[in-house]
Order: sequence, then C-alpha cells, then structure tokens
Amino acid sequence: MKAAAASPAFERAYPSYETTRALDELRAREYPALAALGCTYLDYTAANLYATSQLERHFSLLRDHVFGNPHSTNPTSSFSTASITRVRQRVLAFFNASPDEWAVVFTTNASQALKLVGESYPFGPGGRYLLTFDNHNSVNGIREFARARGAAATYIPVVLPEMRVDERDLERELDRADTHAPRLFAYPAQSNFSGVQHPLEWIERAHARGWDVLLDAAAFTPANRLDLGRWTPDFVVQSFYKIFGYPTGVGCLLARRRSLAKLHRPWFAGGTITVASVQGDKHYLAEGESGFEDGTLDFLALPAVEIGFEHIASIGMEMIHERVRCLTGWLLENLLALRHPGGQPLARLYGPPTTDRRGGIVTFNFYDQAGRAIDHRTVQDRASAANISLRTGCFCNPGGGEIALGLTGTELSSCFRQPEHETHLTVDDFRMCIDGKSTGAVRVSLGLVSNLTDVDRFIGFAKQFIGK
Ligand SMILES: Cc1ncc(COP(=O)(O)O)c(C=O)c1O
Repeated sequence: MKAAAASPAFERAYPSYETTRALDELRAREYPALAALGCTYLDYTAANLYATSQLERHFSLLRDHVFGNPHSTNPTSSFSTASITRVRQRVLAFFNASPDEWAVVFTTNASQALKLVGESYPFGPGGRYLLTFDNHNSVNGIREFARARGAAATYIPVVLPEMRVDERDLERELDRADTHAPRLFAYPAQSNFSGVQHPLEWIERAHARGWDVLLDAAAFTPANRLDLGRWTPDFVVQSFYKIFGYPTGVGCLLARRRSLAKLHRPWFAGGTITVASVQGDKHYLAEGESGFEDGTLDFLALPAVEIGFEHIASIGMEMIHERVRCLTGWLLENLLALRHPGGQPLARLYGPPTTDRRGGIVTFNFYDQAGRAIDHRTVQDRASAANISLRTGCFCNPGGGEIALGLTGTELSSCFRQPEHETHLTVDDFRMCIDGKSTGAVRVSLGLVSNLTDVDRFIGFAKQFIGK
C-alpha cells in the first residue's frame, strides 16, 4: 500500500511531518508484510512491529557463532557472556543511564520486572504502596504483596475528561506518612489507556518526601526518549518488543544500584547466588543484577535486543516521536469532527483532545444517534472484518476503564460481594452485573511505521457508524 499524499490541511497543521518521510521508505523496505497482507495496524501499544533486517541479522548471528550457556566459563560460554554484557551496555545507553548508578536486570517482560520489585520491596506495617488508578494490572498486582506484608495500598484517581491526576490529590497522599517505614509510589510515564503522559517531575517530588518511585515506562519509550540522566526514579520497567517488535520474551528492570540494594529476594535460584549450601543451610546472594536474574537468561534472544536498539538508533527516536505526534493530532481532529446528521458527536474520547502532554494512544467509544454506546465488541468485529488491527476492552488497565466508563466503587463492590461471585467471575457475569454500562472501549495506537493511510483508513472505517 502506497503512503497517502498528505492533504493541504494536514500539511498546514503538521509541517514537520515532511521531515519524517524516511519512515515511509523504511516501512516499504523493512515491513513488507503490512502491504502484502493489506493490514492496517493500529495496535502499537500492545506490540511494536519488527523490521525484516532485525530478523536477518539475528539469524546470521546465531548461524555464524556458537553460543554456550553463560553459566560456564568455556569459550562458547564466554562468547554468550560478552554478548549479554554488550546488550546491558546498549540498554543503559538507550536510557542515558550511567552504569555506575544503574543496574539492568533482564526479565521476560515488564510484568516480571514489576513482580520482582513487588515481591522484594521491604513493605511492612506502617509502610505504603501508592499508585494511580491509571495503571496496568501488573502494577496493580503489587498491592497484593504490599497488603500481605502489612503495608497500606492507596489509589489516586484520574479525572475526566483528560484523565489526568489532580495534583492536589497527589500532594496530599505523598505528604501522608506517619512512620519511616518504606513507601513506594508507582505510576506509568504514559497511560496505556488514555495516552496521557503523567509528569516525570513527580519523581523528585516523591523523593523529596521520602518515597521510592517505580516508573512503568512500557507504553512511553516506544515513541519518547526517557532520559535517566535527567530523571532518577528508583525502578523502571520495560518490555523490549514494545520498542522494536522483536524479540518477544525479554524485558528488564532498570534499578538504581542503591535502590536495588533495598530489595530482599524471597528465594534464591540458579545464577542468583555466589554460594549456596545444602548441609550448611545457607546461601549468599550475588550482588547487583545477578542476584535478580533467575536461572539461565534467554542468551539467544538477547543479541536481538542489541540489534533492535541499533535499528531504533539508525532511525532516531526524535523522528519516531514527531511522526507519532503529527498522526495522533490528525487522528484526534478527524475523529472528534465526526458527527451524526443531527450534530451529535460520533465518538466520546477518554483522554486529552490535543497532542499536549500525551502520546499516540487514542481511546474512545462510538455512540449512536440516540446517545447509546455502540458495544466495543461490535466495533472490534467490524474492524477485524476490514483487516484493521485495533484493541478493545480495558487493555489490562481496569482503573482507567472504571473512570472512563463511570463504574463506581459501590456498584463494583456490590457485584463482587454477591455469593456466587465469591471466587469466580467471568467477563459475561461482570457484564450482567453492571447492566447497561459499557465494559470496555476502543483503542487505536500509533507507532514506529504508522502512516497517513493508516489514519485515513481508520477514519473511513469510523464513518460507517454515522447515522446509526
Ligand atoms: C503501561 C504498561 N505496563 C505494563 C505492561 C505489561 O507488559 P508485558 O505484558 O509485556 O509484561 C503493558 C503492556 O501492554 C503496558 O502497556
């Protein structure tokens, strides 16, 4: 599919788009499956796409070398170890993070990195876990570790229509600490629900009041630079496929070395100790990242991470960012301009209506002429039939969904308290419980090789709901 010629209105509004034209050539050359399959890909927040050359380089590397298990000391093992060391350096360079200050713990994905923090953070009585409503479930899940160890878990709401935090709520919660027990504040640099970019300035404000900060960077870094030379959260989590598509199954916990030292692992595993004894009944945890990497790392996939970072560097994050910004602005303007014949807007947006402090995620529901929400599953089915890949539901961000869709704590609790829902609740049961309200929304997310044709095709698709 050829890239669409930009309309004069688009060119006037987004003149900098022209400077990103190299991405059209890149898409044609490196992402041929999109055109071959006629696929309109609008789900970059779920997973980025990979270039053909990433696969080819990775394959050649594996074909031309012998990679041994890094836990040995033979030549093939040393080769793997050297390759892993290079990948760590590459990750640090991408984030402008000094190796003296930062450790890179490789994990299977962002969720496993979050679990590492949750299970090891020194939560205890008097301690706190503070988080925004707007969080991925893998950040929400840490509340179970916090509560099990006697710490309180508190949520800060986000507020419609933009779905940002009222900073007074944040200040009040950050100030509320009765003891010196450890307290952890977690939030996403970019919401995977609304696209809101929450301020990185919060990191220092939380630090100044004695909090540790866990920053979920998973949805932010694919199109934004996160400079850890400038911002210094204690923990940052990431899945690499979100930045460059391939490989899946590798992510990391970036931790400041002094913050990593505060974590206490609840167990030990192969690779995480210097010495462990059966008869002596003792183990000594390895220092730094090694103490957190359980078993054998995915030493065959890790070289592909280095290749992925080289791919992004060859394009330049600024170009990716600018393209996503222009296309997001255009998508928002066009989506919000769609009206039924009686003048009622077709879409209700959950998030900021302009490109100010937001990324390339646009979440909404369509409404019919009578003001009833069109079920997101209908939109999903029709989009799939048109070979458009988008996401519907709550995107593993239930707090964002509850605020957007107006589901209250009272109605949710009364649903969960019903005896038949004591231990088991299917999505269909849940739908019945909150009868009459939407249980999900539609998400379109733009990224690395999005183009104007993608946005125009989506707007064309949306028009079929006009007049319904
Ligand atoms: C903001 C955010 N955090 C965390 C995750 C979890 O990533 P993974 O499923 O790769 O562990 C996602 C995934 O979509 C996300 O968008």
